Amino acid sequence: MTRLCSFLKSSIGLKILMAVSGTGLCLFLLAHMAGNLLVLYSYEAYNNYAHTLTSNKILLYTAEAGLIAVVLLHIVVAIALVRKNRAARRIPYQVKTNSGKSRRSWFSSNMIITGGFVLFFIPYHLWHFKYGEQPPIVQGGIEMHDLSSLVKAEFSEIGQVILYVIAMLVIGFHLLHGVRSLFATLGAETNRTARFVYLVSRGFVFVVMGGFAIIPIILFIRAVMNS
Ligand code: HEM
Repeated sequence: MTRLCSFLKSSIGLKILMAVSGTGLCLFLLAHMAGNLLVLYSYEAYNNYAHTLTSNKILLYTAEAGLIAVVLLHIVVAIALVRKNRAARRIPYQVKTNSGKSRRSWFSSNMIITGGFVLFFIPYHLWHFKYGEQPPIVQGGIEMHDLSSLVKAEFSEIGQVILYVIAMLVIGFHLLHGVRSLFATLGAETNRTARFVYLVSRGFVFVVMGGFAIIPIILFIRAVMNS
């Protein structure tokens, strides 16, 4: 047990925890994006989908508790890794080598800033969407919340649309570095697979964040055309 604890506190242990929690959050984002795309296809289907997800309270609260635990783990481990890296950097290198083209960019060096942005975005997002006004509606003889009317109303405002598109870009930049790093930590990135890993991680981020960003844009265009 103590050996497991000290392994998890080591740099590689922390990176593995970061990669595993990051994978969980990526899967949540993929599922959340796919579910929300339903609103573009059918308002009824979207309400039914949200009703199905939220009507089993035991399942809902268990999933929410799991999600909060994974987010907290991701944050705590990120802070521990930053502190470890800073402490290591205080010890200068004995020999400086030029190991070729650097993969560092502003976004890879500032994961804490883009990650911190997500921490502000989530409460704002929940305030508007989870706790926003969802009038009751009867669909197929079942009473449920009219979530689609809330989402449509939010994205009929240009300010919200711009904010969400910018937010998706920032979160996308966080994911660009995060997804590639998790492949590297889990040992999937070798000289032979590097190009493939690069394309898969870019493709994943493009599909997920593009899928999210298209929702406010299309709903806004529909609102303008219907007015
Ligand atoms: C256009 C983009 C998005 C839309 C339309 C959207 C929509 C929604 C809606 C309607 C809910 C409330 C569901 C309910 O009350 O049943 C929700 C919850 C949530 N969203 Fe989003 N979302 C978007 C993007 C995001 C992003 C990018 C993140 C994460 C960075 C995120 C994280 C969450 C979380 C954590 C919850 C709470 C889940 C729960 O407690 O069950 N969402 N979203």
